[in-house]
Amino acid sequence: MVLPLLRSIDPERAHGMAIKALGMGLVPMGLLPGAAAQDDPRLAVTAFGLRFPNPVGLAAGFDKNADAGPALFRLGFGLVETGTVTPKPQIGNPRPRIFRLTEDQAVINRLGFNNKGLDVYLRNLARLSSRPVPLGANIGINKEGADPVRDYPALVTAVAPWVDYVVINVSSPNTPGLRDLQSEAQLRAILSAVRPVAGHLPILVKVAPDLSHDGLADLVEACVDNGVQGLIVSNTTISRPAGLVSAHRGEAGGLSGRPLRAMATRMLAQAYRLAHGRLTLIGTGGVFSGADVLEKIQAGAALVQLYTGFAYHGPALIPRLKQELLAALDQAHVERVADAVGTRADILAEPS
Ligand code: FNR
Repeated sequence: MVLPLLRSIDPERAHGMAIKALGMGLVPMGLLPGAAAQDDPRLAVTAFGLRFPNPVGLAAGFDKNADAGPALFRLGFGLVETGTVTPKPQIGNPRPRIFRLTEDQAVINRLGFNNKGLDVYLRNLARLSSRPVPLGANIGINKEGADPVRDYPALVTAVAPWVDYVVINVSSPNTPGLRDLQSEAQLRAILSAVRPVAGHLPILVKVAPDLSHDGLADLVEACVDNGVQGLIVSNTTISRPAGLVSAHRGEAGGLSGRPLRAMATRMLAQAYRLAHGRLTLIGTGGVFSGADVLEKIQAGAALVQLYTGFAYHGPALIPRLKQELLAALDQAHVERVADAVGTRADILAEPS
């Protein structure tokens, strides 16, 4: 789903081809190795004790198995998150299970954590040991035979030597019961089992945009109490915002892209207000422009991630986002990205 030229073919096939091309080291012309190192210093962010050359990251789900290899680092992202990986391989839901909503600049997916499992993932991570930007592992549980309190700590232990941060995914809508793990009691049980094995590795929790405000407040406290360092706000939504026009809008699954942006940004701002500086936030959902990036940061994000915008507009979007972000900073009379974090959280937390 990465090259615009591939747009006319089935989205899952197109995505597979893009991953394969990257895995063979094929990166688009003009995107040179080391591009990340040349980022304007105004874009640099320090978070989780790590340095990010720019705040624009690749969201989980694009490279579930870390198959694309080092070429992923040549696209100019400031952080790269691989996964979701589950302990055992699984095929996921029947196809078709990814739908383009082109007119809405959105995607609905019900993949269901299709992935090659932890063993393959670990072998692939070993190829990424030298990297110019921080690398994250997003972890989940199998549909069958899962025990969250056993599986999440085991996954953290396994990936810890290979990555800079780990994301506990309890928010995919396509694994039955997964999102219930966001409830306070279940999340506390998981996090207190993860904590002893995490050591100094930053642990983040990725949340669904469909959580209530009270649910989010409880989740924030459970995270803070258990040493979690950050939240990713948000995963895809099971809601269908008014105004969708594309033929596939009625498909079951998680909606991402432009129609997700406002609700994900509002939740991000609410999380920022609830966290009172105790958590570092990554804003995800509907980023298509530098102005979108700045808005997420002003809502409270230290970093942002995208998937759907990248799928529609390809690798050329990443340098463009960074350029537009610099222009947006100038326009807002802000010197550095880091100075803008949370500056509009109060406004953006309110319903629009
Ligand atoms: C996703 N997303 C996702 N998230 C996650 O934590 N684990 C995953 O495996 C996946 N898989 C996945 C597949 C596809 C096809 C899409 C479109 C999305 C969610 C993704 O990381 C992100 O949170 C949302 O898509 C919102 O961001 P965008 O896409 O609006 O930029």
